Amino acid sequence: MKKLRFESAKVLNVHQNTIFNDESRFKVAGCGRRFGKSYLATFIIITKAWEKPNSNFFFVAPTFAQARQILWEILKDKTRNARIAKKVNESRLEVTLLNGSRIFLKGADRPDTMRGVSLSGCVIDEFATVREPETVWQQVLRPALSDQKGWCLFISSPAGRNYFYDLYNEAKVRDGWNSWQFTTLDGGYVDNEEIESAKHDLDERSFRQEYLAQFETFDGLVVPNFDRELNRSYEEIQDDDTLICSFDFNVNKNPLGIHVKRGKEIHLLDLIYGSFNTDDAMEALESRYPNHNKIFHTDASGIANKSSAGGKTDISIIKSYGYKVFNLRKNPSIIDRVNSFNSMVCSTDKTRRYFVNINLKRVVDTLEKHIFDENGLPSKKHEYFDDVFDSTSYCVWHYSPMGSVKIKTRQR
Ligand SMILES: Nc1ncnc2c1ncn2[C@@H]1O[C@H](COP(=O)(O)OP(=O)(O)OP(=O)(O)O)[C@@H](O)[C@H]1O
Ligand SMILES: [Mg+2]
Repeated sequence: MKKLRFESAKVLNVHQNTIFNDESRFKVAGCGRRFGKSYLATFIIITKAWEKPNSNFFFVAPTFAQARQILWEILKDKTRNARIAKKVNESRLEVTLLNGSRIFLKGADRPDTMRGVSLSGCVIDEFATVREPETVWQQVLRPALSDQKGWCLFISSPAGRNYFYDLYNEAKVRDGWNSWQFTTLDGGYVDNEEIESAKHDLDERSFRQEYLAQFETFDGLVVPNFDRELNRSYEEIQDDDTLICSFDFNVNKNPLGIHVKRGKEIHLLDLIYGSFNTDDAMEALESRYPNHNKIFHTDASGIANKSSAGGKTDISIIKSYGYKVFNLRKNPSIIDRVNSFNSMVCSTDKTRRYFVNINLKRVVDTLEKHIFDENGLPSKKHEYFDDVFDSTSYCVWHYSPMGSVKIKTRQR
């Protein structure tokens, strides 16, 4: 068999190598952001698939969309560079290697697509943000590994003390299991200066979780530092304001947040709630603010969503009013969105850059009461907390230190 061109000692950093060389069948790695988790995951799955001909391997992301956005390019690149790819199936996200082994990219949000295959190994990237992780592992993936005595790597940044945390702890004491914890700095791909700077941009809890890979208690509030006095806005909408509007599509009441910018601050001053669909919400907005310039931030799904009659997409409806939509090609992960939002509410150095009109009862309720579920993700149980949070946080992302797009709005 052709020898793989890359060898772990040359290609991986020292901590990645520790995880790679360990011989446990089940490995759990909690690592900081940009540690090199996805890189290591790709390296491991390719190496293992190349070592074992005619076998099947799953490379799993929390959602199919994430698998396509994050892992697919790396997987294609690495197998092509190593000249071991025989066939690449773009629509099914599968790579067949020259030795007959196949690597399938999967989304944990579609468990049914993962049944019925006998697996030699599997990697779950960002396992901590998988919804229903116990079911995915115990009922879907673990049985698929049984006949081949396959292996599994769970690799992720922590997201609270959820099921990933349980596995991380169990792995320390169970035979055949092992677990590790490495910080962002351990990875060596982010320098100290940048980490210090992030410390100021994030709230303390998020910093410890994201950069130090600590398992923080997240069974509390999604926005723990919101304070109705300190985050209270005394601003009013002026005639020459550009209204920064944010939608959460795809939900019942179409919450539409209306923000203005004051210097580096974002003020949420109005909320239109209860619209039946996007057309409806736009009509309500136009009748309330007929003369204002407006820009929109939405979640990426609006490009394809058709929430209204007539087959128009949500975004094309907004554009038909002549307004600009600044949405992202892909959504930030929910954890990034929560962190960026919290950093605007109150950063580690206690700067507040997000303010709300406290007469907006639904908004204040959401910010004061929205909680994480048992998986460490914002709970979807309440009638509107998650929808209102999504609506404003998609917008705030753009103005936070973490958001990548900088947009000019007219400012007073
Ligand atoms: N062993 C390596 N050799 C060279 N570059 C690497 C190595 N490991 C990681 N990198 C690079 O470091 C950067 C971060 O790696 P990667 O995306 O795997 O990190 P991550 O932990 O998955 O990040 P995130 O938290 O954003 O998911 C990438 O540009 C990647 O190519
Ligand atoms: Mg990654």
